[in-house]
Amino acid sequence: MAKALVLGGATGLLGQALTRVLTERGWQVETLGRADGNLLEMPFLEERLAKADADAVFNAVAWTQVDDAEDHPEDALLMNRTLPDALARVLKALGRGHLVHFSTDFVFSGPHQTPWREDEAPHPAGVYGRTKLAGEEAVLRVLPERSCVMRTAWLFGPGRKNFVDTILAACRKRDAISVVHDQFGSPTYSLDLAQWSVSLAEKRATGIWHAVNSGQASWCELACEAIALTAGPCRLEPIASSQWPQKAQRPVYSVLDNSKLSEFLGKKPRPWPQALRDFLFSEYVSCAHADKEGTH
Ligand SMILES: NC(=O)c1ccc[n+]([C@@H]2O[C@H](COP(=O)([O-])OP(=O)(O)OC[C@H]3O[C@@H](n4cnc5c(N)ncnc54)[C@H](OP(=O)(O)O)[C@@H]3O)[C@@H](O)[C@H]2O)c1
Repeated sequence: MAKALVLGGATGLLGQALTRVLTERGWQVETLGRADGNLLEMPFLEERLAKADADAVFNAVAWTQVDDAEDHPEDALLMNRTLPDALARVLKALGRGHLVHFSTDFVFSGPHQTPWREDEAPHPAGVYGRTKLAGEEAVLRVLPERSCVMRTAWLFGPGRKNFVDTILAACRKRDAISVVHDQFGSPTYSLDLAQWSVSLAEKRATGIWHAVNSGQASWCELACEAIALTAGPCRLEPIASSQWPQKAQRPVYSVLDNSKLSEFLGKKPRPWPQALRDFLFSEYVSCAHADKEGTH
């Protein structure tokens, strides 16, 4: 049985999806996270990686608070560059274990008309994107023959609060909500991403991969679809980014081209609205139905 170590596998949005999918696909899975010790202490990391003796190590730990990163660049750098760099070095020294590291569409910024490909030059606009890019570069520099970087975007899924949950929660409290309609990206289901990641790990894939569901949306379109699918009564007001000021600058267009992944999988990743339906029906609609039945 193949063995996996998932950093962030007990608590992270993607980490939990990876743990679930790996287990379903017959892997023996161990998780590693904050509760186990300080991941930045080299002796601790070395000991845990050696003990795990994993065929694949999935790094889903990161500093993911985009706005806070602007105020804490050093802390963001520790999680987003120092940790993946250390993981790659330890695995290199061990001589075993494929590293699957996760990155972000925020490595891109600026105007663009077509989805970003893996071979296009990144240009992050903020601290989060810059530290994530530094992490990618470190992994691929230290362990090029046994690592891959999965750039993903706009994740939704079970296990940890995400944009879709936030919108639906706001919708339950208010008659109308305002959502940004001039930033475009690639909404992606964490469980789909986990499936592709495990497939790539099983083939020992290397290099950079854009791993997103097909299609694109603005935040407002994603919110609109989620509200429609859950039959929410809320009214949506599309607004410009300038009407929703945030500390960190967001890319206006960060849609990722998933052609390389499609070729690897032998089919295009399913469209994001279809994946969103799966998520919402398992998390929201079936729960609402169960609640109703419980009150009878
Ligand atoms: N979510 C998205 O929309 C999105 C988009 C593009 C790329 N990504 C990338 O996808 C990957 C996974 O993201 P995610 O959304 O699953 O993130 P998440 O839900 O915020 O989970 C982050 C994980 O990192 C852990 N972590 C953070 N700081 C830590 C520390 N100091 N010590 C130990 N553990 C720490 C968290 O542990 P605790 O639970 O203990 O805090 C959690 O397990 C990241 O590389 C991220 O950059 C995500």
